[in-house]
Amino acid sequence: MKAFIFDLDGVITDSAEYHYLAWKALGEELNIPFDREFNETLKGVSRTESLERILRLGGREHDFSVEEKEQLATKKNEHYVSLISNITHADILPGVEAFLSEIRQAGYKVGMASASKNAYMVTKQLGLLAAFDHIVDAATVAESKPHPEVFLKAAEALRVEPKDCIGVEDAVAGVEAIHAAGMFAVGIGDPAVLTEADVVFTDTTGLTLDNVLTRI
Ligand code: BG6
Ligand code: MG
Repeated sequence: MKAFIFDLDGVITDSAEYHYLAWKALGEELNIPFDREFNETLKGVSRTESLERILRLGGREHDFSVEEKEQLATKKNEHYVSLISNITHADILPGVEAFLSEIRQAGYKVGMASASKNAYMVTKQLGLLAAFDHIVDAATVAESKPHPEVFLKAAEALRVEPKDCIGVEDAVAGVEAIHAAGMFAVGIGDPAVLTEADVVFTDTTGLTLDNVLTRI
C-alpha cells in the first residue's frame, strides 16, 4: 500500500453532524421530517442529490422548480456554513492528527476525496492543509459518491495505482465509491451500517498504521 485517501466530513472532523442538522432544519421547514437512519443515506452524497433524496422522501420531488431547488440548497448551505464557521484545530476528531503524522512519516502519500464544496475551507479552518498532498473536492468532479471518480482523481493526483490505496470513509456511499475505485476500504462508524467495508473502526481512535495494516 502506498497511499491513504480520506473522506472529510465525519472522518477528519464531525462536520457530518452539522450537515445533518442543517438538512434536518430544511426538511422540517418543508414538512419532511427525517431521522438519523434516513440521514445515513445522505452521508457522502452531493448537495443537489441530498436535496432530491429528501424531497423524494416527502413525495415532494415535483413541487419545486429548478430555481427553487437551487434556493433550497443554498439555504441549507448558508445554515451549514454558519454552523461550521467556528470550527478550529480543536475539532479534529481524536487520533486523526496523530494518524496523519504517522502515515506521512512512514512514507505514505496522503489524499482527500470529499463530496463537499466546502472541503478546502473546512480543512483550512482545521489547520490541516499541510497534512494532505492533494485534496479533491466536489468542485472538481462530475459524479457523486458512490461513483468512484473522486477517489480515482485523488489517486491519480498522488500518482498511485488505485489498488495501492486505502480509502477511509464514514458513509455507505463512500465505502461503495472506494470499492468501485478498486481500493481497500476502512470504515469509521457502526459496523452494522458499514457492512461492506473491509475493516470498520467504531471511531477514529482506532486509526493506527498497525491496526490497519494487520487487517489487509
Ligand atoms: C459530503 C457530506 O462530504 O458532502 C454530505 O457527507 C454533504 O453530507 C456533501 O451533503 C456535500 O457537501 P457541501 O458542503 O458541498 O454541501
Ligand atoms: Mg463522510
